[in-house]
Amino acid sequence: MQICPTKTEIRAATAKLRNGGASIGLVPTMGFLHEGHLTLVRRARAACDRVVVSIFVNPTQFGPNEDLATYPRDPERDFAMLRAEGVDAVFTPDPSEMYHADAQTIVETTDLSGVLIGALRPGHFRGVATVVSKLFNIVQPDRAFFGEKDYQQLLVIRTMVRDLDVPLEIVGVPTVREPDGLAMSSRNVRLTPEHRAAAPALNASLDWAEATLPRTPMTVDELAAGVTARIADARGAEIQSVDIRDAETLAPLAGAITAPAVILLAVRFGQVLLIDQRVVRP
Ligand code: PAF
Repeated sequence: MQICPTKTEIRAATAKLRNGGASIGLVPTMGFLHEGHLTLVRRARAACDRVVVSIFVNPTQFGPNEDLATYPRDPERDFAMLRAEGVDAVFTPDPSEMYHADAQTIVETTDLSGVLIGALRPGHFRGVATVVSKLFNIVQPDRAFFGEKDYQQLLVIRTMVRDLDVPLEIVGVPTVREPDGLAMSSRNVRLTPEHRAAAPALNASLDWAEATLPRTPMTVDELAAGVTARIADARGAEIQSVDIRDAETLAPLAGAITAPAVILLAVRFGQVLLIDQRVVRP
């Protein structure tokens, strides 16, 4: 497995890997890998001839009061996990390699990036869309793999690829969960034991919604109230948002739910913001 800290090295490595027409799958990550990332890697392995992973904690997607400085990092452990999965190359730039000091160009999905998590974290999706565009230009993969857990991120990236005619396929991969239902995330290690014990309430509320809606027709407000009540019972949960939106466009919904809808949760436990999502059908 080649470890490439510079754009020149990863470009040379991918040129070699592509030699003879092999397809390349890219799994963009911010490191501190867990089973969720490895699931993306395995999907890439199954769908592509060669797999490239990027590890870059992207400063431009963190707000001034967010957890950039304390975001967990453990590159040696990450490399060992990726070697065991048979990954071909890892791109590990630092911020000065990734961004010119006078960088002026941004990529932004104008409507999608200002709502929901984008409203809670101004500038976040601009940072994501910009860095992902750069990764696509540097690695030039045939397919790129992203978790469905970050539902809005996935829609932002799909929209950016569509609008800018980026020649690759985006593959969304279902959320991987701990045995108690908590969606896997690098941030979970920063939950206190009490908050960790309470955090599966997000998944439990989504399970309730998914199971109940087909049997009991509900309005958007009734569904939101049921989900909120189930999370509010969890110790230390500060609900930031419970949004129920059109599953394809994220457009706000009102009244009876008659088509697939996505429930998007953002819940803070202490300093840690957890997100989760589920598409539910009437
Ligand atoms: O989902 C993530 O880990 C990040 O947002 C991504 C897609 C790697 C961009 O920095």
